[in-house]
Amino acid sequence: MCGIVGYVGDKESAPILVSGLKKLEYRGYDSAGVAVVNRNQLNVVRATGKLRNLENRVVADQPQGNIGIGHTRWATHGRPSDENAHPHTYKNVAVVHNGIIENHLSLKTQLRAKGHVFSSETDTEVFAHLISDELEAGKELPDAVRGAIEQVKGTYALAVVSATDPHRIVCTKNASPMVLGLSEGQNFIASDVPAVLEHTRDIVYMEEGDLAIVTAAKVDIFNRQGHPVNRATRRIDWTPMMAEKGGYKHFMHKEIWEQPRAVADTLRGRMLLTEGDVHFEGWNLTPEKVRSLSKITILACGTSWHSGVAGKHMIETLARLPVEVELASEFRYRDPIVESSHLAIAISQSGETADTLAAFKEAKARGATAMAICNVIGSAMTREAEFSVLTNAGPEIGVASTKAFTTQLVALYLLAVKLGRMRGTLSVAAAQEHLTHLTEIPKMIEEVLKCEPAVKRVAREFMNSQDFLFLGRGPMHPVALEGALKLKEISYIHAEGYAGGEMKHGPIALIDEKMPVVVIAPKKPHVAYEKIIGNIEEVRARGGKVIAVIDEDDDQVAGLADHVIRVPAACALLAPVIATIPLQLLAYHVAEMRGNDVDQPRNLAKSVTVE
Ligand code: G6P
Repeated sequence: MCGIVGYVGDKESAPILVSGLKKLEYRGYDSAGVAVVNRNQLNVVRATGKLRNLENRVVADQPQGNIGIGHTRWATHGRPSDENAHPHTYKNVAVVHNGIIENHLSLKTQLRAKGHVFSSETDTEVFAHLISDELEAGKELPDAVRGAIEQVKGTYALAVVSATDPHRIVCTKNASPMVLGLSEGQNFIASDVPAVLEHTRDIVYMEEGDLAIVTAAKVDIFNRQGHPVNRATRRIDWTPMMAEKGGYKHFMHKEIWEQPRAVADTLRGRMLLTEGDVHFEGWNLTPEKVRSLSKITILACGTSWHSGVAGKHMIETLARLPVEVELASEFRYRDPIVESSHLAIAISQSGETADTLAAFKEAKARGATAMAICNVIGSAMTREAEFSVLTNAGPEIGVASTKAFTTQLVALYLLAVKLGRMRGTLSVAAAQEHLTHLTEIPKMIEEVLKCEPAVKRVAREFMNSQDFLFLGRGPMHPVALEGALKLKEISYIHAEGYAGGEMKHGPIALIDEKMPVVVIAPKKPHVAYEKIIGNIEEVRARGGKVIAVIDEDDDQVAGLADHVIRVPAACALLAPVIATIPLQLLAYHVAEMRGNDVDQPRNLAKSVTVE
């Protein structure tokens, strides 16, 4: 999510750090900072907003020193501000961190009891305090870092410098990327290759649990057990642009493939399996309030609206609370009926979409409780909300939304379980079962991504089609809508998403042998499966070409369809997360084969901040 860069050598480090951070700008960020060590002195410069702000401060009063670390922050805990920007320091220690410390609240409580005072709202600051304590207990910096990470639960790419140990950077990683850039008389660390490419192309990828001690002369790496290890040095021939995309041709493709990690980040720290409950940091709805709710109104646009439609299925099924999903642009210009017993949920990747924001404000002004499901902390929507569930998908750069959608679905499922528990519609055992399903989702996404070759074959066959129809029933209806939207957004092929039952009321008139029909037909729920088979028969009878997304073990639909894409079978309410992914890939490959600008499709904007 965020960006890390570090330098140790014989040059002034601050300008190198800032220029490295600039190479990570494409990832999105809300604040930035550097920490430079100079003869037992730590100098930290931080600034909210664009890197230009940090650069101006660095140029005005450049911190001197040949060793330092830098960071661009994309807020997850604590709003974007100078105080919450990294590096975080405590006494002689400065740290930069990507990832999430799940147990930061309990660690902060323990540290406060020992007299520690925190100067930010972040989880990261805990690292500086823990490492500082370990140093004071007499440990060397690498052991102090090890001692700190032993106490932490969560994910991290962490880089540390200390004023009392001014010649080395110690860095370590667990589930967040970290690379080392090797060069003569100087070495680099970074979360992503582009940050160091202008200085070196010799890169070492750190592995899970590795800890590296980086000096100007050399790099020593140790595994989780503390044993020295050799990690291969790779020569990276990517152009800077390729490096930004992690070797993928387009951001959209990279973001599709990032979904196992993105969804895992949405879930992290929130599932209480033993209690059969869900923990949302900052949750402020009392049990009485939740029990008194009479309706949820979801407000959203575009892809986020589709996730709202899927969320309706989840919340109504698990929490037995009526949910209406409103197009924000329609809601804001009606005279909507809103009561104080209503919960308005704005769903938005950016948190800045003008229509969603206006509708949200309207619902709030009319007395609804306001909650946001959003990917960008500190965005207008999270500021307006009384409570926000962050999707933690990381920056999404491709205009066509992919990982934002699947992470919204997972966040909505967590919310449905939470509401179900609070309203007494889910027993502990039932909630545990639902949470267990959720734990399996990242692995299932990894599995479903293996269907890419099959999807590519379909894309090649139908890339010149004029029209596409997407059909789904029940929880697969929003998947059909999203599949059609993805395709039209980036391939410019006309595509319609329909609920299977509506086919007879219009789209059937369009079907002929030139019309590909994508049918999303998992076996669960059974009633939807039986009915969608009827739709498939109707399409076949008119010569239409059926592309079916089916469960791995399905023979029945496989025998009827012209093409099948097999996906792992998930429970009915979570199947949209899995079934959407082949449709994202289909849209991507069709657009790519047609030579379109996949990441910046014509006429579309990533964030629609005007009406
Ligand atoms: C634009 C984007 C879509 C997105 C929609 C809503 O149209 O191109 O990908 O779904 O806005 O954006 P939001 O940030 O509110 O989710």
